Amino acid sequence: MKKARIIGTGSYLPERILSNADLEKIVDTTDEWIVSRTGMKERRIADENEYTSDMGIQAAKAAIEDANIDVGAIDCIIVATLTPDYIFPSTASLVQQGLGLEEIPAVDMQAACTGYIYALAQSKAYIESGMYENVLVIASEKLSAVTDYEDRNTCVLFGDGAAACVVSHTGAGYHIDAITLGCDGKQSDLLYQPAGGVRKPASAATIEGREHFIKMNGKEVFKHAVRRMESASVEALEKSGLDKTQVSWLVPHQANTRIIETLAKRFEIPMERVFMTIHKYGNTSASAVGIALDELEKTSTPKVSEHILLTAFGAGLTWGAAVLTKEGS
Ligand code: ACO
Repeated sequence: MKKARIIGTGSYLPERILSNADLEKIVDTTDEWIVSRTGMKERRIADENEYTSDMGIQAAKAAIEDANIDVGAIDCIIVATLTPDYIFPSTASLVQQGLGLEEIPAVDMQAACTGYIYALAQSKAYIESGMYENVLVIASEKLSAVTDYEDRNTCVLFGDGAAACVVSHTGAGYHIDAITLGCDGKQSDLLYQPAGGVRKPASAATIEGREHFIKMNGKEVFKHAVRRMESASVEALEKSGLDKTQVSWLVPHQANTRIIETLAKRFEIPMERVFMTIHKYGNTSASAVGIALDELEKTSTPKVSEHILLTAFGAGLTWGAAVLTKEGS
């Protein structure tokens, strides 16, 4: 069987910074509250006319360059996002056009913050079945477009950004050992955007009621996040034939430092081996673990044979974990 590996990673963050001090001027909050309750100090915000597809294209270009392949070698595109440019056509079709690719399959995937890991799983299946040769996985989010900057419970949490990787069966990078995924649709009302879909199309009333923005029961989501990321990680490690002492790096979803610290404690991973970008980018939903993986690779460069545990959690509720092993070139 062909083995799927990540042969290149990339990411893109908009230049504009929204700091805690900026948020103090918008809502009734403080830098102290945000840092102590979430670990966030800054997040990036896309320009008004910079969209999810634009950020995805930038991250994709970086990943393709890192993979050292010709863009024409890409034969499938998957874009994970909960903030697509349009409901339809897919953001993936816009990315295909932006990269100058023609007629290759391109599809969106919606698993909220777990989107990168779901897309990675789909690409692994495509590669290992022999269906495609080089799958471009992208996660891109313009969360600032669905964030209510009058709601202090949510507006301090989210930022914009994109990540990408090329998944292939040849070349060196990170072997994708195992992935586990899950979803509990019974909890779908804990975190959602009420209007804009066919249940509640846009109307004067939905706009008046601020129903096109993210609504979250943070306390409840918090409890599920720790439990689900832990169980997904245990399962993925078991599938890989590894135990927790063999994990060299933990790359978790960047939603809350307290969630990350609890997870690290349960896996007995020292915090210097937990890769975090939360302080500078906040929660970028599907993009978060992809951005963190790219920055881990570019700044700390895991050694050959080291195991990396990715795990994420989000609306749905969805969750997932992936075990990667760094390969020699
Ligand atoms: N500044 C000051 N006070 C605030 C703020 C703020 N920005 N936000 C909330 N508060 C207040 C609340 O109003 C509340 O006040 P009250 O007690 O007078 O009512 C108090 O702080 C405590 O609020 P809680 O919601 O209980 O705060 P908590 O400690 O739970 O932290 C948080 C909130 C950060 C949202 C946390 O619950 C969390 O991180 N939850 C998980 C989020 C997550 O994992 N999301 C994952 C997926 S995201 C996706 O899929 C898009």
